Amino acid sequence: MFHKFRANDLQVIPHQRTDGNAADTVISTDDFANARAEISAWQGYAPTPLHALPELAAALQLGAVHYKDEGQRFGLDSFKALGAAYAACRVLQQQISQTRGHPVTLTDIRRRKYASDAAKITLVTATDGNHGRSLAWGAQRFGAACRIYIHSEVSQNRADAMAGLGAEIIRIDGDYDASVRVARDDAAAQGWFVVSDTSWAGYTEPPRDVMAGYGVLIDEVNQVLDSAPTHVFVQGGVGGIAAAVAAGMRQRWGQKCPRIIVVEPDRAACLFASARKGAITNVDIQTETMMAGLSCGEPSPLAWDILREEASAFTTIPDDFVAPAMRLLGAPLGNDPAITAGESAVAGLAALIAASADTGHRETLGLDNNARVLLIGTEGATDPDIYRKIIAG
Ligand SMILES: Cc1ncc(COP(=O)(O)O)c(C=O)c1O
Repeated sequence: MFHKFRANDLQVIPHQRTDGNAADTVISTDDFANARAEISAWQGYAPTPLHALPELAAALQLGAVHYKDEGQRFGLDSFKALGAAYAACRVLQQQISQTRGHPVTLTDIRRRKYASDAAKITLVTATDGNHGRSLAWGAQRFGAACRIYIHSEVSQNRADAMAGLGAEIIRIDGDYDASVRVARDDAAAQGWFVVSDTSWAGYTEPPRDVMAGYGVLIDEVNQVLDSAPTHVFVQGGVGGIAAAVAAGMRQRWGQKCPRIIVVEPDRAACLFASARKGAITNVDIQTETMMAGLSCGEPSPLAWDILREEASAFTTIPDDFVAPAMRLLGAPLGNDPAITAGESAVAGLAALIAASADTGHRETLGLDNNARVLLIGTEGATDPDIYRKIIAG
């Protein structure tokens, strides 16, 4: 049943967790709590489902598998809705406080109390789709202008979704990392504000807020589960969601914190390369992966600061694990619920299946009949045409 998930094609680097304090200092409990208070006040906020997949767990000889399904988040279809929109709100708060000469609150921004000030501010980012959609949505909600830089491989449907939210779309030659550089240079030249999900030297505040926003989904999981999962398999692009999960879980569960297993496409495995080298490492993307949201060659240093202390393993999967994993969720085993999951959502599941079938991987990762595994289903059908094509085979 699981023969397409070949254990030999799953690369695994076990990683020694260390006793640092990055999980508390890079994103503090206050950062998470402030993001949670603001985002849960937004119109349309509702916790996303946490599905139990007991038949899958039994087939993999695991104790339990849960899938946090971000496919409907705020109608934007990915967890990214939590990050950029919140960071946009914070940038507007800070800028308007500065120009007004007195503090304004996030509630003021949400209620558009200073609408004429917000309208003069332009928010900018590079994206492979989901982050930009969140920023465009936030900018529209809070009344700011928005420019989104996309690379040559971003699908037209994803570009249209952002344009539909009022953003101006700029398509550049080159890959995701090149689009980050162009966005940054244009913003510096024009006095626009970059709201990036990745950090660099001297630029950490919006990426920290983005990760604090992701904390909402971790909090929702922890409110439903009555004990800590033993493992979380989570996708890695620049590392933001994996780092937020690691920090949020550590803050909630302390010594009982689950093992964090980071999963990347083998075509864009910058966190894996960093783990192998023991230091942050960029990779050149030779061929684009179909997991568009994970197609990043440069880790976010802020995220790496957390992951190098907190991750228990770094793994990669090939692209041909993706379609079978999407189809399995869409047409599940027995009475497990059917789930619509996009290409970048299923990497964690695919790695879990490949690892579970192999004695060596099971031992390395501590997977057994008592394992309670959490998967972070980071997107739904964010490009419905691509989704339909993959499911149809
Ligand atoms: C659906 C999806 N999953 C996972 C990720 C990876 O997140 P990060 O870049 O924070 O590691 C992304 C990034 O865009 C994404 O869109």
